[in-house]
Formats: sequence, structure tokens, C-alpha cells
Amino acid sequence: MARVALVTGGSRGIGEAISKALKAAGYDVAATYAGNDEAAAAFTSETGIKTYKWNVADYDESKAGIEKVEAEIGPIDVVVANAGITRDAPFHKMTPEQWHQVIDTNLTGVFNTVHPVWPGMRDRKFGRVIVISSINGQKGQFAQVNYAATKAGDLGIVKSLAQEGARAGITANAICPGYIGTDMVMAVPEKVRDSIIAQIPAGRLGEPEEIARCVVFLASDDSGFINGSTISANGAQFFV
Ligand code: CAA
Repeated sequence: MARVALVTGGSRGIGEAISKALKAAGYDVAATYAGNDEAAAAFTSETGIKTYKWNVADYDESKAGIEKVEAEIGPIDVVVANAGITRDAPFHKMTPEQWHQVIDTNLTGVFNTVHPVWPGMRDRKFGRVIVISSINGQKGQFAQVNYAATKAGDLGIVKSLAQEGARAGITANAICPGYIGTDMVMAVPEKVRDSIIAQIPAGRLGEPEEIARCVVFLASDDSGFINGSTISANGAQFFV
């Protein structure tokens, strides 16, 4: 039987590429989205991948959504916590609302996504937890005190989960994408974006598929001894 994979924020951007790559690798995939019904419907009709709408920042919604996915598709073997937002502002202008929105979605959202699937993974003695962090969690970023805090927090989550899950056959790893050609990066003012690209030795933005291939590897049986790690995929922009 095919393994089941859940990808949050899985109908657009990096998440879309991850959902498609996991499907191509033979997984039964469920993708979540937060608000864009039209994009989700187009994604399902193009790929045949089922989409589910819930807010990852809400624990009860996440838990109920995950129960629905498991009832309709099967127990979740691979969870990819990818959903994330930016609310960029220089710190002196950042509002408590911008802080909380990003913390609730990017950091608490990872807890809300992984916590409901964790007991089943422990019972079945297999699981793959993959969290999409960011280069900006590793190096910090002007105007991203909130976002960088969440993405650094993701690394603490996987290192802790790795230790708790190892004996139960569960691995937890993070991927830190650099700047990838998605709507999120395209929303950065063009002048700033050009200066960012100038700092990438590869001379280009990454492609969502380049992150998706890392996910497929971390989800596979081949990666069983890789646990608590971070894969940086950033075109040589930053080394830890
Ligand atoms: N480094 C240094 N200076 C920067 C900067 C950066 N990355 N980004 C902006 N600035 C500077 C601007 O040049 C400007 O300087 P001057 O006043 O001297 O012209 C100043 O900061 C902007 O000040 P403002 O008070 O006018 O700023 P604002 O309130 O209008 O906010 C901004 C503008 C939100 C900071 C905008 O410039 C921006 O979005 N910057 C990019 C932030 C960024 O890189 N975000 C990453 C998004 S992609 C992502 O997050 C995905 C991932 O994981 C990699």
C-alpha cells in the first residue's frame, strides 16, 4: 500500500512542488491550503491531489482536518510542515499583530500540524517529519525579526523531535531553502530582490522543485539514519 503524505500549504509555491513530487514518487498525498479556493481547485484538477482547507494556526482545526485526511486517505506516514507567511517590517515598525500572525502560523502551526499525527507514527513505528524552515532562520534577515524567529524555532523543533522519535522509527528533519522563485519572494520590492540575487553565488533564485527533491529524499527509507538534520539549499548564499 502507498504511504500517505500530508503537505501543509501544499497547493502553491514550494508546497505545490512538494505535493507533486511526492505523488510522482508514489505517495498518496493530501495538501492543505488556508484561503485561496480557486488556486486549490485548479491544483486538484491539474494533479488529482485532494486539498483540505484549514488554518494551521488553529490547533482544533488542524486536529479535525488531520482526522478527516486519515479517515479518507489513511494514516499519515509523512508530514511536511510547509505552510508559512511573511509580515515583513523593520523592527521599529513591526506591530504586535505582525509578530503574532507569523508566530502563530509558522511556529505554532508546526506544533499544530505534527502533534496530532505523532501518536499514530509512534504506534506504527514509522514516521517522517519534514519542516520547511528558511535560510533566514539561519542567518537572520532585515525586516524579518518575526519570520527569522519562527524559522530558527523550527530547527529547535526538529532537533528535539528527532531525539524523541528515533527509537520509534520516526525521523524529523528541516530544509532551509534560500531564496526560491515563489510569490513570497516575488512580493519583495524589485530593487531589494535584485540586491538579494546579487548575493547568491549561484546567480539565480532556486526552483521549488529543487526543494521538493530534498523532501522526497528525506521521506524515503534511504534517509532513515538522517535525523535532526538541516539540509541547506541556497545556491551557496550562506553556510552554517
Ligand atoms: N537590507 C538592508 N536594508 C534594507 C533591506 C535589506 N534586506 N531591505 C530594505 N532595506 C532598507 C531600504 O533600502 C530602505 O533604506 P533607505 O531608507 O535608506 O532607502 C529601508 O530599509 C526601508 O525603510 P522603510 O522604513 O521605508 O521600510 P518599509 O517600512 O517601507 O519596509 C521592507 C520595507 C518591508 C523592509 C521592504 O524593503 C522589504 O520587503 N524588504 C525585504 C525583506 C526581505 O528580504 N524579506 C524576505 C522575504 S522572502 C522570504 O522570506 C522567503 C525565505 O524564506 C527566504
